[in-house]
Amino acid sequence: MKQRFHYFAPCPRGLEALLAQELNGLGAAEVKPTDGGVSFAGDWLLLMRANLHSRLASRILWRLAVKPYRNEEDLYQLARGFDWPELFDVSRTIKVVMTAQGSPLRSLDFAALKVKDAVCDRFRAKLGERPSVDTADPDLRIHVYLTEREASLYLDTSGEALFKRGYRVATGAAPLRENLAAGILQLAGWTPEQPLLDPMCGSGTFLVEAAMMALDMAPGLDRSFAFEGLRNFSADAWAKLCDEAHARCQPPRPLAIFGSDYDQAMLDATYANLDRFGLADCVTLERTDFLSRSAPAPEGVIVSNPPYGIRLDEQEQLAAFYPQLGDALKRSFKGWRAYFLTGDLRMAKLIRLSASKRTVLFNGALECRLFEFKMVEGSNRRIKPGEQAENQ
Ligand SMILES: C[S@@+](CC[C@H](N)C(=O)[O-])C[C@H]1O[C@@H](n2cnc3c(N)ncnc32)[C@H](O)[C@@H]1O
Repeated sequence: MKQRFHYFAPCPRGLEALLAQELNGLGAAEVKPTDGGVSFAGDWLLLMRANLHSRLASRILWRLAVKPYRNEEDLYQLARGFDWPELFDVSRTIKVVMTAQGSPLRSLDFAALKVKDAVCDRFRAKLGERPSVDTADPDLRIHVYLTEREASLYLDTSGEALFKRGYRVATGAAPLRENLAAGILQLAGWTPEQPLLDPMCGSGTFLVEAAMMALDMAPGLDRSFAFEGLRNFSADAWAKLCDEAHARCQPPRPLAIFGSDYDQAMLDATYANLDRFGLADCVTLERTDFLSRSAPAPEGVIVSNPPYGIRLDEQEQLAAFYPQLGDALKRSFKGWRAYFLTGDLRMAKLIRLSASKRTVLFNGALECRLFEFKMVEGSNRRIKPGEQAENQ
């Protein structure tokens, strides 16, 4: 248990610094954020703790080897040199996942095949049999990450991506990834004492994530992980971690978390997702148009991702919607801070409020901005020198 291993946690781009903080808080060592994730080190317990508690990581990958390579044969040798039967039973199904940046190899599919052959050959040499491949739903994923000259071999200890918490039973047109939503709540500086509103809540990802954070509910409590199928898995240590996490989780209670949408089907989806984790009574839901709704508290935090349009007519509708959104904020949300995630960079100008912060984030491959607008109470607030004027 005490042996030190090296790990890599990929995350949505833009959340690396927050993930590094989170992993530090979980007791990780050698924490280094890089583009798209964070490398860190620690014992086997840390691996389980990170899988159970990280709200921001997409997966926890266990680094087995790193070596220079030039061709597919080098990758074969890298994977062949590893004692796979020591790690897992031959009955487990596997899949090899290749990702590359600047690799000279012509076919990643062929490279993946060579790595799979190496794993199977190692099993055959030791046991006379080999594991089966299951590309749709494997028990274990072997990740290979290639740069121009270096290959890193990882075992994915999470299995299903960590943002699949297990609550999403209903979905809307463009749901946010759960770990991106959790990261945005943290970037917004929201803490559970502050009232929170998502006035265009869709299927409610911000609301569920916020309720889980407020109750200290570990995001991985309701799911299984690939590491449970490894030979060095200790069921006792895992049960202890889960018991501790259950003990920390507060019972559901009404919270100052509010959601609304003008589409009843979306509110039904949000309710179903909250209810899946027993959180339906924690959040107040209301069917209403944001443009005419009132603030549920004198001050608080709005976090939302408004609709975005791809077709020209949708784009035109949005261009008309943004100034109305700005007006609604000025009219009804003085004293609030608002954070909008959008891929539509026209929003900052068309909303006719000046953004006090713009953070670049990626929703999958889509480059987005998180805009911060601070709505000032009253008109007599002094603007300090150097501070941007707001709400003009
Ligand atoms: C991109 S989706 C939000 C997705 C959500 N974050 C999730 O994770 O499922 C935008 C939502 O805004 C809602 N919406 C658009 N205009 C609105 C308005 N004026 N008032 C209230 N809801 C609105 C739509 O019904 C849609 O559900």
